[in-house]
Amino acid sequence: MLSGAIAAGARLPSSRTLARDLGLSRTTVIDAFDRLIAEGLVESRVGAGSFVSNVLNAERPHKPVPVGKARPALKPSLSRAMGWAVDRFSDRPRLPYAPRAFVTALPAFDAFPMAQWARVAAKHWRGRREEVMGYGEPCGHPRLREAIAAHLRANRGIACDRAQIFVVAGAQQAFNLIGTVLLNPGDKVWFENPGAIGARNGLLAAGAELVPVPVDGEGLRVEEGLERAPEFRLVFVTPSHHQPLGHVMSLERRLALLRSAEEAGAWIVEDDYDGEFFFGRRPLPTLKSVDRTGQVIYVGTFSKSLFPALRLGFMLVPPSLVDTFEKVSSAFVQGVPSSLQAMVAEFMDEGCFATHIRRMRRTYEERHAALCDAADRALGGLLDVMRADSGLHTIGRLPAHLSEIAVARAAAGRGIVVSPIARFSIEPAPVNGLVLGFGGVKPAEIRGGIAVLREVLEGLARPKRAAAMR
Ligand SMILES: Cc1ncc(COP(=O)(O)O)c(C=O)c1O
Repeated sequence: MLSGAIAAGARLPSSRTLARDLGLSRTTVIDAFDRLIAEGLVESRVGAGSFVSNVLNAERPHKPVPVGKARPALKPSLSRAMGWAVDRFSDRPRLPYAPRAFVTALPAFDAFPMAQWARVAAKHWRGRREEVMGYGEPCGHPRLREAIAAHLRANRGIACDRAQIFVVAGAQQAFNLIGTVLLNPGDKVWFENPGAIGARNGLLAAGAELVPVPVDGEGLRVEEGLERAPEFRLVFVTPSHHQPLGHVMSLERRLALLRSAEEAGAWIVEDDYDGEFFFGRRPLPTLKSVDRTGQVIYVGTFSKSLFPALRLGFMLVPPSLVDTFEKVSSAFVQGVPSSLQAMVAEFMDEGCFATHIRRMRRTYEERHAALCDAADRALGGLLDVMRADSGLHTIGRLPAHLSEIAVARAAAGRGIVVSPIARFSIEPAPVNGLVLGFGGVKPAEIRGGIAVLREVLEGLARPKRAAAMR
């Protein structure tokens, strides 16, 4: 009736007929009629029957809308920031849900201590109902905030207080919030090129004008940033392990970045997404640990150190921003599931988290070695796999005649996932290569994956070589 398929004034079949035609009890049909009458859609005239009411005539479309077909959508009017962002979002990235060669972004599911986790979870749900069923603290579960602060003090060299820690729904929510709270549409943001996709999208959604700043073996080229946009408002970096190239930002660059941000009055967002997992050289101190002026906002995630389904991350803000983020969290965010936060806090307090990280360093070192060994043996001249000192992924450089997009496509056809570096780039970057995740993949699968990748690369290289000889 609302769609106009049954015209105003039309006579409805009797309840008896309808009940018979539909195979329903008459009571059900009379019930439905009564409701339609109560809602004003149907009028009942004694002795004459039931009719579609005229009352809503003005609301109904003039032509009936065929059932199951939506009306053509009006072009929605988006906010200025979002209208600008949606076309610039990188194409609907679907984050991976299961590890296989060479998926990035996933930790080793197979090595997670599920029995310990299940014990902690069961213990949580046996707690007092007043403690486990209500709304949580908006800035984060107090025990978790304290556990995170203690972890950062002990392992990442950061002097901090638990009041500076805000628990969020993954690092992604931290990027979104930072953009919403600290940027105005059109503000210039230095962004590593190539660089992290999720952070890029979060800042774009706040209306940021991203300024791609090239990256070399020492990290973000600060001088280049100053040339392109001296008056920047914020800079996003992954200094412990560049996403995606894997470089560690040198101390000199870190100090230059801190100096430049101080002069510009800009915020620095340090994304330390997998910095825990070092196995080569000892890592440099975090940028936050040498931040003397309170400009660095440090973002961490449990997606690598535990697992991504938790959707748990945190940010450590300088003292000058604590009050603002407290208000924002209470008024606007209302936290993430307090049950999960409590379980992670217990897992950390019991020492399971620290043990897991230590074990994972060895696991990732072994997987990294398996990848490099297999690549050395099988991929000479086809893909030059870079040695990493940390993290769960590295890159492989392709010779100029092989297109990263074509390789990724052909590999996908054989069940192998490799990401072209171009996916991470705002403007073309001078690296032709692939991102290879190894953290979530068992050594045997790594070796199998490299064998398939070799066939794929040879298949693509052969016609090119033949053409070059002709
Ligand atoms: C650079 C970077 N930062 C952070 C994250 C983690 O994001 P989240 O905590 O939202 O899962 C990822 C995920 O892959 C990432 O690549």
